[in-house]
Amino acid sequence: MADRLDLSGRHIVLGLSGGIACYKAAELARELVKAGATVQVVMTEAATHFITPVTMQALTNRPVYTHQWDPREANHMAHINLSREADAVLVAPASADFMAKLVHGRADEILSLLCLARPAERVPLLVAPAMNREMWAHPATQRNVAALRADGVSVLGPAAGDQACGEVGDGRMLEAAELRDELIAFFQPKRLAGQRVLITAGPTFEAIDPVRGITNHSSGKMGFAIARAAQEAGAQVTLVAGPVHLPTPAHVRRIDVQSALQMHDAVMPLAAAHDVFIATAAVADWRPVAAAEQKLKKDGSGRPPAIEMVENPDILAVVARLPQRPYCVGFAAESHDLLRHAQDKRARKQVPLLVGNLGPATFGQDTNALLLVDEHGHRELPQADKLTLARQLVAEIATRLTPPTR
Ligand code: CTP
Repeated sequence: MADRLDLSGRHIVLGLSGGIACYKAAELARELVKAGATVQVVMTEAATHFITPVTMQALTNRPVYTHQWDPREANHMAHINLSREADAVLVAPASADFMAKLVHGRADEILSLLCLARPAERVPLLVAPAMNREMWAHPATQRNVAALRADGVSVLGPAAGDQACGEVGDGRMLEAAELRDELIAFFQPKRLAGQRVLITAGPTFEAIDPVRGITNHSSGKMGFAIARAAQEAGAQVTLVAGPVHLPTPAHVRRIDVQSALQMHDAVMPLAAAHDVFIATAAVADWRPVAAAEQKLKKDGSGRPPAIEMVENPDILAVVARLPQRPYCVGFAAESHDLLRHAQDKRARKQVPLLVGNLGPATFGQDTNALLLVDEHGHRELPQADKLTLARQLVAEIATRLTPPTR
């Protein structure tokens, strides 16, 4: 997914105010450029004490602006020109002092000047606070953050953790890749604004004994990509994940489970309170009746032990029959006859939308192709990386939630 150009065509003014987190701004500039954006760096005088304009210019391939008296601008109005051509202004790091200036509309240097001068209705302002935890927790800073939010500024982070001063707490700037993803999410259409989306993902693990179990090749990547895409689209997302080693998408609530029964027990109390349920998990159809308490040993007879199995509940089918059911989307991982199996499964599970994919071709891969089957017929979403497909699927789901008024 690394080479998707999610910020292609976007022109970003990246503002740096003073703080040790300026070192992360170099990587951030690089990430934004790699994602396809053009990046214009503007630095306060304080920021230049932490990182040089030379570094930022080399990374963005554009001269950096560091003061409002820049003679390069023919009209001598850098603050107007820079703010008019931007698709967004991102201040990272945003120091406590810089945020205080924004709150008061002060404009005594180039960065605060251009923030104030930007046409707020079409050039959004995002800030990534970075400061010592006491400075962040101070009522003055918290008042300022609230005031900025009220003014329509998006506040990204901060994160908690080790700080340059040696203390530990809230106030670290988000990492470069996190800020890049926040910006990408910011630009996604909010097709699912206000919707609550519940997703299952990954395989399940059905224990045979304390060291063995039955599982499958599902990597969880498609479900996690859908969780991210739904969140980017403005939804409140809960992700019930089987055993996978994937990072949780930002702002997604994650519940980890192992077995199909645990997945069922996690989903059931939540389902009715969600608007959409997307079942991407490859749930084991059967489980051993009871896991042995001790490791099963060979008995020397050459005969494997008989493991008695029992069927797992069909989570999707149960949710789809709830009186207060969310809009249900099922997945079908097949090895052949995709359309026929997907149509059969849609009817059997009584879900409005069933998404077919070829299991062996997708499990563990970064790309996939999907076949959408609904009451009107079927439609293919051709081979693409999983996040691209997830966004397309989210768009398809969104149109089905709000039927066009004729
Ligand atoms: N599913 C579920 N709970 C189960 C089994 C499946 O929620 N116990 C969901 C999956 O998450 C998926 C859909 O049902 O959305 C279809 O899963 P799949 O394993 O392909 O279908 P099965 O019902 O197991 O059918 P079969 O084994 O015959 O292919």
